[in-house]
Amino acid sequence: MPVDLILSNAKIYSRKGIIEASIAIDESRIFKIAKETNLPTASGKLDLKGLLVLPGLIDSHVHLRDQQLAHKESFFSGTAAAAAGGVTTVIDMPNNKPVTMSSKSLQERMEIAQRQTVVNVGFYSAFPQNLSEIHSIVEDGAVAFKLYLSQKIGGVNIEDDEALLQAFDKVSETKVPVGVHAEDRETIEKGKRELLKAKRRDVEAHLEARSHEAERKAIQRTVHLAQRTSAHVHLCHLSTAAGLRDVLQAKRDGLSITCEVTPHHLFLSSKHLKQLKTLALVNPPLRTRRDNRALWDALRRGRVDAVSTDHAPHMIEEKKTDSVWDVKPGIPGLETMLPLLLTRVNEGHLSLSILARATSERPAKIFNLKDRGNLVEGNHADLVAIDMKQEYKIDSSRFHSKAKYSPFDGWRVKGKPVKTFVDGNLVMDEGEIVAEPGTGQIIRRPESS
Ligand code: DOR
Ligand code: ZN
Repeated sequence: MPVDLILSNAKIYSRKGIIEASIAIDESRIFKIAKETNLPTASGKLDLKGLLVLPGLIDSHVHLRDQQLAHKESFFSGTAAAAAGGVTTVIDMPNNKPVTMSSKSLQERMEIAQRQTVVNVGFYSAFPQNLSEIHSIVEDGAVAFKLYLSQKIGGVNIEDDEALLQAFDKVSETKVPVGVHAEDRETIEKGKRELLKAKRRDVEAHLEARSHEAERKAIQRTVHLAQRTSAHVHLCHLSTAAGLRDVLQAKRDGLSITCEVTPHHLFLSSKHLKQLKTLALVNPPLRTRRDNRALWDALRRGRVDAVSTDHAPHMIEEKKTDSVWDVKPGIPGLETMLPLLLTRVNEGHLSLSILARATSERPAKIFNLKDRGNLVEGNHADLVAIDMKQEYKIDSSRFHSKAKYSPFDGWRVKGKPVKTFVDGNLVMDEGEIVAEPGTGQIIRRPESS
């Protein structure tokens, strides 16, 4: 019997380095990687003409919106953006309308997503009010829980450490991780009150309220909680050098902690806010060059587990209001993450192995996405073919996301995802979405445990 597809003439990234070979795909999985002469016959064949093939990116921090926020992004537009950016699996955040925080809201979301997605989607849930529901939410397929320390989203009082610990302990029974947005609500509110009193409404006021201290305090609190529970804690979008230092120390101390950084906190500093203004407003905010450098340094040393986008689409009008306090925070990142990182690889500032580890291998491990994250035989055929030589300018007007703006607009990049395969299906070809809505898989936790 012939296999389904052979991708020939590729430069394939593997842990041992780059190998020139072909990939045989059968029944949505990688059947064999070898020289073409050693592969079985296939029903279909595609010549990749020397393109670099990486494991499809797994972006563990994405706001796909939809439902009552579909005007900002839908499962289709968000996953089309993912496919265009070489991302084959996204994990969706729970701060939706309605909030994902029960079996019912999760199932509803999965049902809508099932019909629309072109890449794989896993789901975060917020903590439910009744902690006994945590087990059923995981049985229904949530791959992680999310805790926001900056505002109450979900059913647990975020000022109450004991209540949070109970939630962490319950989650630890299910073995899924708890993702934490570490910015301290009280510090932010206090700062904001003072700035409002001083009639500040400029973009810098946002940075002042959401200070370095606000992140550090929340990280220290999270580390203390992590010391008292066996739940795995994943710190989302670290933005400060001091916060990062505390997390790395906690890891060295042996706590079950991982962390992620975003491209915007790596590539942009508060200096960029001067030109970009509220378009680049995001939580946590852009920090100093020194913070950027600390994040890069830790990433290059392999100490940062994941690079994730925190793709947070809003309508352009919501990004440009008179008062900074009314601006919706967030940056759409799915279509720029890989080109930005590839540019750093081309410049010799980032190794391909760190890139693949942080954008695929580690996220697959942390969120227990079975048989994904590596190009090895037997794994799902989630992969991205890249033209490392192509140079171009980022043009947000051509995004597939509904959010057609970017702080990286006009940036020159080198390295372009040109074909994305999800479970062996070609979903993006030369920037075009060629798959039917519903091609992507809903990733449910039982599959992965
Ligand atoms: O900038 C942000 N945008 N930070 C968050 O924590 C939420 C996100 C959103 O949902 O828009
Ligand atoms: Zn987020």
